[in-house]
Amino acid sequence: MANVLVNNKLAPDIYQLTVEGEYHASMGQFYMLRCWGAFPVLSRPISVHDINEGTISFLYRVSGTGTRLLSQLKPGNQLQLEGPLGRGFPEPEGRTAIIGGGMGIAPLLLAARRLPDSRVFLGFAGDPFAVSAFHAIHADVHVVSGGTIADYVEPSEYDTILACGPVPLMELLAHRTKGTGAKLFFSVEKRMACGIGACSGCTVRIDGVNRRVCVEGPVFSAGEVDFHDLLSL
Ligand SMILES: Cc1cc2nc3c(=O)[nH]c(=O)nc-3n(C[C@H](O)[C@H](O)[C@H](O)COP(=O)(O)OP(=O)(O)OC[C@H]3O[C@@H](n4cnc5c(N)ncnc54)[C@H](O)[C@@H]3O)c2cc1C
Ligand code: FES
Repeated sequence: MANVLVNNKLAPDIYQLTVEGEYHASMGQFYMLRCWGAFPVLSRPISVHDINEGTISFLYRVSGTGTRLLSQLKPGNQLQLEGPLGRGFPEPEGRTAIIGGGMGIAPLLLAARRLPDSRVFLGFAGDPFAVSAFHAIHADVHVVSGGTIADYVEPSEYDTILACGPVPLMELLAHRTKGTGAKLFFSVEKRMACGIGACSGCTVRIDGVNRRVCVEGPVFSAGEVDFHDLLSL
Protein backbone atom coordinates (compact mmCIF):
# COMPACT_ATOMS: atom_id res chain seq x y z
CA MET A 1 0.00 0.00 0.00
CA ALA A 2 1.16 3.54 -0.73
CA ASN A 3 0.73 6.67 1.34
CA VAL A 4 -1.14 9.68 -0.10
CA LEU A 5 0.75 12.96 0.33
CA VAL A 6 -1.49 15.33 -1.64
CA ASN A 7 -4.77 15.02 -3.57
CA ASN A 8 -5.46 18.52 -4.85
CA LYS A 9 -8.42 19.70 -6.88
CA LEU A 10 -6.91 21.75 -9.74
CA ALA A 11 -10.13 22.51 -11.64
CA PRO A 12 -13.72 21.23 -11.65
CA ASP A 13 -13.41 17.39 -11.60
CA ILE A 14 -9.64 17.50 -12.17
CA TYR A 15 -7.31 16.28 -9.42
CA GLN A 16 -3.61 15.74 -8.91
CA LEU A 17 -2.72 12.88 -6.62
CA THR A 18 0.79 12.61 -5.21
CA VAL A 19 1.89 9.43 -3.47
CA GLU A 20 4.99 8.76 -1.38
CA GLY A 21 7.65 6.28 -2.48
CA GLU A 22 10.50 5.63 -4.90
CA TYR A 23 8.93 4.82 -8.27
CA HIS A 24 10.44 4.24 -11.70
CA ALA A 25 8.46 4.37 -14.94
CA SER A 26 8.93 5.18 -18.60
CA MET A 27 7.02 8.16 -20.01
CA GLY A 28 3.59 6.91 -21.12
CA GLN A 29 3.37 3.96 -18.74
CA PHE A 30 0.45 3.64 -16.32
CA TYR A 31 -0.53 2.14 -12.98
CA MET A 32 -3.70 0.36 -11.88
CA LEU A 33 -5.04 2.37 -8.91
CA ARG A 34 -7.40 1.18 -6.21
CA CYS A 35 -8.47 2.74 -2.92
CA TRP A 36 -11.61 0.69 -2.24
CA GLY A 37 -12.60 -2.81 -1.14
CA ALA A 38 -14.78 -5.20 -3.15
CA PHE A 39 -16.62 -2.60 -5.27
CA PRO A 40 -15.90 -1.50 -7.96
CA VAL A 41 -14.43 -4.91 -8.80
CA LEU A 42 -11.73 -3.54 -11.09
CA SER A 43 -8.83 -1.21 -10.35
CA ARG A 44 -8.58 1.83 -12.65
CA PRO A 45 -5.73 2.61 -15.11
CA ILE A 46 -4.16 6.05 -14.69
CA SER A 47 -1.03 7.28 -16.50
CA VAL A 48 2.07 8.37 -14.67
CA HIS A 49 1.94 12.17 -14.68
CA ASP A 50 5.25 12.83 -12.97
CA ILE A 51 7.97 11.21 -10.89
CA ASN A 52 10.24 13.01 -8.47
CA GLU A 53 12.59 11.83 -5.76
CA GLY A 54 10.34 10.08 -3.25
CA THR A 55 7.03 10.72 -5.04
CA ILE A 56 4.86 9.75 -8.00
CA SER A 57 1.93 11.86 -9.28
CA PHE A 58 -1.22 11.16 -11.24
CA LEU A 59 -3.50 13.69 -12.95
CA TYR A 60 -7.08 12.46 -13.30
CA ARG A 61 -10.61 13.51 -14.14
CA VAL A 62 -13.54 12.33 -12.06
CA SER A 63 -15.67 10.43 -14.57
CA GLY A 64 -17.35 7.68 -12.55
CA THR A 65 -17.33 5.64 -9.34
CA GLY A 66 -13.63 4.74 -9.22
CA THR A 67 -12.23 8.18 -9.93
CA ARG A 68 -14.79 9.72 -7.52
CA LEU A 69 -13.44 7.46 -4.77
CA LEU A 70 -9.89 8.50 -5.71
CA SER A 71 -10.92 12.16 -5.40
CA GLN A 72 -11.97 11.56 -1.79
CA LEU A 73 -8.49 10.45 -0.71
CA LYS A 74 -6.86 12.61 1.97
CA PRO A 75 -3.19 12.96 2.96
CA GLY A 76 -2.25 9.94 5.06
CA ASN A 77 -4.80 7.62 3.37
CA GLN A 78 -3.54 4.47 1.70
CA LEU A 79 -4.05 3.22 -1.84
CA GLN A 80 -2.92 0.29 -3.94
CA LEU A 81 -0.70 0.94 -6.97
CA GLU A 82 0.10 -1.82 -9.43
CA GLY A 83 2.68 -1.01 -12.06
CA PRO A 84 4.35 0.47 -13.95
CA LEU A 85 2.42 -1.24 -16.75
CA GLY A 86 2.36 -1.13 -20.51
CA ARG A 87 4.77 0.07 -23.15
CA GLY A 88 5.37 3.81 -22.99
CA PHE A 89 6.67 6.28 -25.54
CA PRO A 90 9.91 5.33 -27.33
CA GLU A 91 13.05 7.42 -26.87
CA PRO A 92 12.50 10.02 -29.60
CA GLU A 93 14.97 10.75 -32.38
CA GLY A 94 15.78 14.28 -33.56
CA ARG A 95 13.50 17.30 -33.19
CA THR A 96 10.61 16.34 -30.95
CA ALA A 97 7.13 17.76 -30.34
CA ILE A 98 4.99 16.73 -27.38
CA ILE A 99 1.29 17.35 -28.02
CA GLY A 100 -1.51 16.97 -25.49
CA GLY A 101 -5.22 17.67 -25.76
CA GLY A 102 -7.40 18.03 -22.63
CA MET A 103 -6.91 15.11 -20.21
CA GLY A 104 -4.37 13.80 -22.73
CA ILE A 105 -1.81 16.07 -21.10
CA ALA A 106 -1.72 13.60 -18.16
CA PRO A 107 1.10 11.32 -19.41
CA LEU A 108 3.05 14.17 -20.99
CA LEU A 109 4.53 16.00 -17.99
CA LEU A 110 6.99 13.14 -17.45
CA ALA A 111 7.84 13.28 -21.18
CA ALA A 112 8.38 17.05 -20.96
CA ARG A 113 10.63 16.56 -17.92
CA ARG A 114 12.72 13.91 -19.64
CA LEU A 115 12.95 15.70 -23.01
CA PRO A 116 14.07 19.27 -22.23
CA ASP A 117 14.94 19.99 -25.89
CA SER A 118 11.44 19.19 -27.14
CA ARG A 119 8.61 21.67 -27.85
CA VAL A 120 5.44 21.18 -25.84
CA PHE A 121 1.94 22.01 -27.14
CA LEU A 122 -1.05 21.76 -24.78
CA GLY A 123 -4.59 22.35 -26.01
CA PHE A 124 -7.85 22.74 -24.10
CA ALA A 125 -11.47 23.11 -25.15
CA GLY A 126 -12.09 25.40 -22.14
CA ASP A 127 -9.91 26.79 -19.37
CA PRO A 128 -6.43 25.23 -19.24
CA PHE A 129 -5.54 23.16 -16.17
CA ALA A 130 -2.29 21.73 -14.74
CA VAL A 131 -0.16 23.81 -17.12
CA SER A 132 1.89 25.53 -14.41
CA ALA A 133 3.72 22.25 -13.76
CA PHE A 134 4.79 22.17 -17.43
CA HIS A 135 5.97 25.79 -17.33
CA ALA A 136 7.92 25.06 -14.14
CA ILE A 137 10.03 22.31 -15.71
CA HIS A 138 10.19 23.18 -19.41
CA ALA A 139 11.19 26.35 -21.29
CA ASP A 140 9.20 25.80 -24.50
CA VAL A 141 5.53 25.25 -23.62
CA HIS A 142 2.65 26.55 -25.77
CA VAL A 143 -0.84 26.55 -24.27
CA VAL A 144 -3.93 27.07 -26.41
CA SER A 145 -7.52 27.35 -25.29
CA GLY A 146 -10.25 26.74 -27.89
CA GLY A 147 -9.81 25.42 -31.43
CA THR A 148 -7.48 22.50 -32.01
CA ILE A 149 -3.88 22.34 -30.87
CA ALA A 150 -3.07 20.52 -34.14
CA ASP A 151 -3.37 23.90 -35.89
CA TYR A 152 -0.39 25.21 -33.88
CA VAL A 153 2.02 22.43 -34.83
CA GLU A 154 3.72 21.99 -38.19
CA PRO A 155 4.54 18.24 -38.28
CA SER A 156 7.19 18.62 -41.00
CA GLU A 157 9.34 20.59 -38.50
CA TYR A 158 9.76 17.47 -36.32
CA ASP A 159 11.33 14.04 -36.53
CA THR A 160 9.25 12.62 -33.70
CA ILE A 161 5.86 13.57 -32.27
CA LEU A 162 4.57 12.14 -28.98
CA ALA A 163 0.87 12.77 -28.44
CA CYS A 164 -2.12 11.99 -26.29
CA GLY A 165 -5.65 13.35 -26.44
CA PRO A 166 -9.13 12.88 -27.85
CA VAL A 167 -9.49 10.51 -30.79
CA PRO A 168 -10.39 13.31 -33.29
CA LEU A 169 -7.16 15.13 -32.39
CA MET A 170 -5.14 11.94 -32.87
CA GLU A 171 -6.83 11.33 -36.24
CA LEU A 172 -6.09 14.89 -37.33
CA LEU A 173 -2.45 14.63 -36.27
CA ALA A 174 -2.11 11.28 -38.06
CA HIS A 175 -3.58 12.82 -41.21
CA ARG A 176 -1.33 15.90 -41.09
CA THR A 177 1.80 13.92 -40.29
CA LYS A 178 1.40 11.54 -43.24
CA GLY A 179 4.13 12.05 -45.82
CA THR A 180 6.13 14.51 -43.68
CA GLY A 181 8.72 12.02 -42.44
CA ALA A 182 7.80 12.73 -38.79
CA LYS A 183 7.19 9.64 -36.67
CA LEU A 184 3.98 10.02 -34.66
CA PHE A 185 3.32 7.96 -31.53
CA PHE A 186 0.30 8.26 -29.34
CA SER A 187 -1.12 6.87 -26.19
CA VAL A 188 -4.58 5.32 -26.63
CA GLU A 189 -7.32 4.26 -24.23
CA LYS A 190 -9.57 1.25 -23.89
CA ARG A 191 -11.49 0.16 -20.82
CA MET A 192 -9.28 -2.22 -18.88
CA ALA A 193 -9.99 -5.13 -16.56
CA CYS A 194 -6.77 -6.90 -15.53
CA GLY A 195 -4.21 -4.40 -16.89
CA ILE A 196 -1.62 -7.16 -17.27
CA GLY A 197 -2.51 -8.90 -20.52
CA ALA A 198 -4.55 -11.75 -19.04
CA CYS A 199 -8.17 -11.01 -20.04
CA SER A 200 -7.99 -9.55 -23.59
CA GLY A 201 -10.58 -6.98 -22.45
CA CYS A 202 -8.60 -4.06 -23.85
CA THR A 203 -8.02 -5.43 -27.34
CA VAL A 204 -7.81 -3.01 -30.30
CA ARG A 205 -7.20 -3.59 -33.99
CA ILE A 206 -3.67 -2.53 -34.88
CA ASP A 207 -2.58 -3.06 -38.47
CA GLY A 208 -5.43 -5.57 -38.80
CA VAL A 209 -4.25 -7.60 -35.81
CA ASN A 210 -5.76 -7.75 -32.28
CA ARG A 211 -3.40 -6.15 -29.73
CA ARG A 212 -3.88 -5.63 -25.99
CA VAL A 213 -3.56 -1.96 -25.03
CA CYS A 214 -2.33 -2.82 -21.52
CA VAL A 215 0.75 -4.76 -22.63
CA GLU A 216 1.40 -3.97 -26.31
CA GLY A 217 0.31 -0.34 -25.71
CA PRO A 218 -0.92 2.07 -24.57
CA VAL A 219 1.53 3.80 -26.93
CA PHE A 220 1.31 2.82 -30.58
CA SER A 221 2.73 4.19 -33.78
CA ALA A 222 0.06 6.30 -35.50
CA GLY A 223 -0.01 4.47 -38.82
CA GLU A 224 -1.05 1.24 -37.07
CA VAL A 225 -4.21 2.31 -35.27
CA ASP A 226 -7.87 1.81 -36.20
CA PHE A 227 -9.36 4.98 -34.65
CA HIS A 228 -12.93 3.67 -34.70
CA ASP A 229 -11.91 1.09 -32.13
CA LEU A 230 -10.79 3.62 -29.51
CA LEU A 231 -12.31 5.51 -26.58
CA SER A 232 -12.12 9.28 -26.59
CA LEU A 233 -10.44 11.01 -23.64
C1 LIG B 1 -3.75 3.36 -20.19
C2 LIG B 1 -4.76 4.32 -19.63
C3 LIG B 1 -4.31 5.46 -18.98
C4 LIG B 1 -5.25 6.38 -18.46
N1 LIG B 1 -4.76 7.48 -17.86
C5 LIG B 1 -5.63 8.37 -17.34
C6 LIG B 1 -5.15 9.53 -16.69
O1 LIG B 1 -3.94 9.75 -16.56
N2 LIG B 1 -6.07 10.39 -16.18
C7 LIG B 1 -7.43 10.16 -16.31
O2 LIG B 1 -8.23 10.98 -15.84
N3 LIG B 1 -7.90 9.06 -16.91
C8 LIG B 1 -7.04 8.17 -17.42
N4 LIG B 1 -7.53 7.05 -18.03
C9 LIG B 1 -8.99 6.84 -18.09
C10 LIG B 1 -9.43 6.27 -16.74
O3 LIG B 1 -8.88 4.99 -16.58
C11 LIG B 1 -10.96 6.17 -16.70
O4 LIG B 1 -11.51 7.47 -16.75
C12 LIG B 1 -11.38 5.52 -15.41
O5 LIG B 1 -11.01 4.16 -15.44
C13 LIG B 1 -12.89 5.64 -15.24
O6 LIG B 1 -13.20 4.93 -14.06
P1 LIG B 1 -14.44 5.34 -13.16
O7 LIG B 1 -14.73 4.22 -12.23
O8 LIG B 1 -14.24 6.67 -12.55
O9 LIG B 1 -15.58 5.50 -14.20
P2 LIG B 1 -16.56 4.37 -14.77
O10 LIG B 1 -17.79 4.39 -13.92
O11 LIG B 1 -15.85 3.08 -14.99
O12 LIG B 1 -16.83 5.03 -16.17
C14 LIG B 1 -17.31 6.39 -16.24
C15 LIG B 1 -17.19 6.87 -17.66
O13 LIG B 1 -15.81 6.83 -18.07
C16 LIG B 1 -15.68 6.03 -19.24
N5 LIG B 1 -14.43 5.26 -19.17
C17 LIG B 1 -14.18 4.19 -18.41
N6 LIG B 1 -12.93 3.71 -18.65
C18 LIG B 1 -12.40 4.53 -19.57
C19 LIG B 1 -11.17 4.57 -20.24
N7 LIG B 1 -10.23 3.65 -20.06
N8 LIG B 1 -10.96 5.59 -21.10
C20 LIG B 1 -11.90 6.52 -21.33
N9 LIG B 1 -13.10 6.52 -20.74
C21 LIG B 1 -13.35 5.54 -19.89
C22 LIG B 1 -16.88 5.12 -19.24
O14 LIG B 1 -17.21 4.69 -20.57
C23 LIG B 1 -17.95 5.99 -18.64
O15 LIG B 1 -18.53 6.84 -19.61
C24 LIG B 1 -6.63 6.12 -18.58
C25 LIG B 1 -7.08 4.97 -19.22
C26 LIG B 1 -6.16 4.09 -19.76
C27 LIG B 1 -6.66 2.86 -20.46
S1 FES C 1 -6.98 -5.29 -19.49
FE1 FES C 1 -6.85 -7.46 -19.46
S2 FES C 1 -5.66 -7.86 -21.26
FE2 FES C 1 -5.64 -5.69 -21.11
